Amino acid sequence: MPTADELNATLAAHHPAAFACLSTMGREAAFPTGIPAQAAEARGVELQATLGQLTDGQGRAIVPDALDSLSRGDGSTAYLYSPVTGLPRLRALWHERLRRQGSAPMSLPLVTLGLTHGLSLCADMFTDAQTDVVVPTPMWGNYRLVFGFRRQASLVGWNFFNDAGGLDVQAFADAIAKVRTRGVVILNFPGNPTGYSPTEAEAKALVDVLAAHDGPPLTVILDDAYHGFVFEPDIVVRSLFWEVAERCSPDKVLAVKVGGCTKELLFFGGRVGFLTFAGPAAATAALVNKAQTITRATVNCPPAATQVMAIEALADPAVDQQIAAIRMQLDERYRILKTELAGLDGDRLRPLPFNAGFFALIQVHESLDVHAVRRRLLSEQSAGVIALPSVNALRVAFCSIGKDDIPELVARISRVV
Ligand SMILES: Cc1ncc(COP(=O)(O)O)c(C=O)c1O
Repeated sequence: MPTADELNATLAAHHPAAFACLSTMGREAAFPTGIPAQAAEARGVELQATLGQLTDGQGRAIVPDALDSLSRGDGSTAYLYSPVTGLPRLRALWHERLRRQGSAPMSLPLVTLGLTHGLSLCADMFTDAQTDVVVPTPMWGNYRLVFGFRRQASLVGWNFFNDAGGLDVQAFADAIAKVRTRGVVILNFPGNPTGYSPTEAEAKALVDVLAAHDGPPLTVILDDAYHGFVFEPDIVVRSLFWEVAERCSPDKVLAVKVGGCTKELLFFGGRVGFLTFAGPAAATAALVNKAQTITRATVNCPPAATQVMAIEALADPAVDQQIAAIRMQLDERYRILKTELAGLDGDRLRPLPFNAGFFALIQVHESLDVHAVRRRLLSEQSAGVIALPSVNALRVAFCSIGKDDIPELVARISRVV
């Protein structure tokens, strides 16, 4: 196993931005020649006595009958330890899925415990108190915990929408210009909480900013949690990961893709996510080593049972059609919600643009406190939505309300406001 110095030398030679972006923890990380590494070297030997897991001596699990009723896949993989980086077949299947979307050089995806774990690995590797993390306003609130609370990084916000109802690309560029020594940039499309994905022109303008970047090195994280859920024709579906990886120099920018089965496969409880690094093979192998070290230090390895379920789903040729059929149901709710929101009093309740994902935002007149509105909706109207004080808006999750109930929900919001 390479030492931390060897990994860092590889990164310095093959991906200067990745090397320069590493935090103290990121620099020190190197996967040790411990049990997982030694067990991996011993894979396939006749007498296997490396791992602390119970087998019949031939690699098959010995499990209680109560568990065996849940048997999946080959009936053993689900019960035994997964490699720290995830089950090889699952990594290969996700790699294949990504390859259908783009050809930029990238690592084999590393399996994470949901996308949050992938983001948290990025936070450990690339942020500390000196790092600026560029995030949109509004953003998914957990970025504050993952990067700010846990790693003491500074969050630099940019106003997501401009006055014309499109993406404020200038605000994005201005926020990047504020990065001091090294930065992390998070782009999340389709967005939570906005339910917005860029047009072709907006996407190009965002990547233009990154491609022209000549300041401190940046790790650009594409949080693709809601990949594929796009409901309008002229909106970008393909992750910006590919454009960033293809157009930005490894001297300045490291592109990282965070995605997974949580929303893309509608496997919310499965906790199967993936972390993928773009860049030359030597550099991405060093980055995988470091991420794997931190996984080993925090959760040991991802759960095997849900990985086996994900393998079965991804290997099924019908899966994409099935997801498309479910997306159509969401599409119907999206259109009903659009129509209902168009009928609102635009002064007191102003829907923000949305075209993708699971959510829509309704901005409330500035004279009203959005939490007070939310509480009244709960107590007087028996309706639950999320209050976002950063933009004085309510977030409606149309992923979790039936299409027939959407008009009534909008009517109740209108009544309270
Ligand atoms: C934008 C975004 N990123 C990441 C996540 C985390 O996904 P997971 O549940 O797989 O940790 C979510 C979950 O809601 C999300 O909305």
